[in-house]
Amino acid sequence: MNWWKEDIVYQIYPKSFKDSNNDGIGDIKGIIEKLDYLEDLGINTIWICPFFQSPMIDNGYDISNYYQVDPMFGTNEDLYELIDQAKKKNIKILFDLVVNHCSDQHEWFQKAIAEPNSKERNYFIIKKKEEITNWRAIFGGNSWSPLPNSNDEEYYFHVFSKEQPDLNWENPELRKEIYKMINFWLDKGIKGFRVDAITYIKKNQQFPNFAPDGLDGLAHVDKGSINQPGIESFLKEMKTETFDKYDCMTVGEAVGVPYKDLEQYVGDGGCFSMIFEFSYDNPSMPSQGNWYDYKQWTVDEWKQKIYKAQKHISKIGWSPTHIENHDSPRSINKFLHPDQICGHSVKMLATIFFYLRSTPFIYQGQELGMSNVHFNSIDDYDDISTHDHFQRALNAGFKEEEALRLISPRSRDNARTPMQWSNSKYAGFSEVTPWLKVNSNYQNVNVDQQLNDPKSILNYYKKMIELRKQKKYCSVLVYGEFSPLFENMKNIVAYQRTNNEQTIYIINNFQSEYCEIEVEMPFKVLLNNYTDITVSSQRLIYLKPFQSLVLDIE
Ligand code: NOJ
Ligand code: CA
Repeated sequence: MNWWKEDIVYQIYPKSFKDSNNDGIGDIKGIIEKLDYLEDLGINTIWICPFFQSPMIDNGYDISNYYQVDPMFGTNEDLYELIDQAKKKNIKILFDLVVNHCSDQHEWFQKAIAEPNSKERNYFIIKKKEEITNWRAIFGGNSWSPLPNSNDEEYYFHVFSKEQPDLNWENPELRKEIYKMINFWLDKGIKGFRVDAITYIKKNQQFPNFAPDGLDGLAHVDKGSINQPGIESFLKEMKTETFDKYDCMTVGEAVGVPYKDLEQYVGDGGCFSMIFEFSYDNPSMPSQGNWYDYKQWTVDEWKQKIYKAQKHISKIGWSPTHIENHDSPRSINKFLHPDQICGHSVKMLATIFFYLRSTPFIYQGQELGMSNVHFNSIDDYDDISTHDHFQRALNAGFKEEEALRLISPRSRDNARTPMQWSNSKYAGFSEVTPWLKVNSNYQNVNVDQQLNDPKSILNYYKKMIELRKQKKYCSVLVYGEFSPLFENMKNIVAYQRTNNEQTIYIINNFQSEYCEIEVEMPFKVLLNNYTDITVSSQRLIYLKPFQSLVLDIE
């Protein structure tokens, strides 16, 4: 039995969660202050996005010291205090492990620049100018940048921004340094990691050029650097040298893994407890595309992706499910048309994902129904990727206003605005102007107000959590088989979870129309996002718009 299958994880973006010392930036003490809230919500584990020393080019995903909390978030003592306090509440902590790359301010990179014969020189991927490839970095521009002090003769490689040089996993000495750091933190009592960008650690060692796929004459960096053959030996070694020695949970951010390769990643022989599934979390986004492009999608196509992922993953291992994180817009805006947004539809989205065969992850503010923001100026956006995609839209010929209108619903800052705790100024996040503007809807959408409203989204999340943890239902809702229900009914997203003794139906009417479905009688209603349910004597349930039901088929 693995505890992490039964857990419910809450993701914290520390810069935006709670500011304890009123400098406008969330911090570790702020997380400690809110542990009671998290305990009351009912989650068991928190994943905290990076808080280590960093120049914050990519908000902490550019680490300059893996052993030191950045002063903006507090001190190492605060961190130990957090681990301690959380433990008292039986809340486990996952860190974000960022080891595909570090920051260009890391002393390793600084030494690599300063001393051509240093061992650190081989911690990075450095080539002569004539050997570099035409791969486009994820945050824009060429993925090779001139190595400072090299007279433009040598270039270093970076999948993301130029301030995030990739670490050279081909070098065993570097790998040892990474394992040492992982074990250091596991020894401090954390219970695991979310593992950032892990499918990028192996590069195609031939370093070929690819046919350009954009106006800039470059080709997407993924072509030569994602899920490349040979990655499995790095993954295996990392697992043996670190995770295997502890009872820990690891969640790989493993973009680009085809289902046929899943065994390298999850299950008995895989490196991680689970890996994120990205096939359905942002249906209108063209893969590897530009943010100004939008793809049409339908609920029925979308549900098939969910079903497909569930079927493939359950054959091999385990997965988390999420509909939000710090890299993508708020779920309300991704999945619902503006005229569909209401309390019922937001609760419906929550229900759809929450009872899949997986460990549910909730992103901060999702439990309130926090929504996207729109800032009137590109200068109000902080996210490096938003600036890059704004520029790409301009390059493609859009006028500034149009470019902003197109890319703002895609911005990662939609999910990064300060957490809305109350209706006081700055949403109770801080007493001073926060690092990123608060969403203007905070007076209607905040924790204080929802705690007191039995029909709130927050209280619905609490009920969902409670049900998944209930003794009677935990076994079937966590371990039970998954199979789709009413698959051919338009806009019905439904599935059952079954074991030898129990059958639970999870039924969601993803439309603003009424709809009739036929179910087995008798049943007990375990969860309903309306106060009532309309049933006729002929085993028919008359589903209301966006109604969600969880039924115990007795
Ligand atoms: C994935 C992280 O979730 C994202 O926020 C970050 O920008 C990239 N990896 C680079 O570390
Ligand atoms: Ca602070």
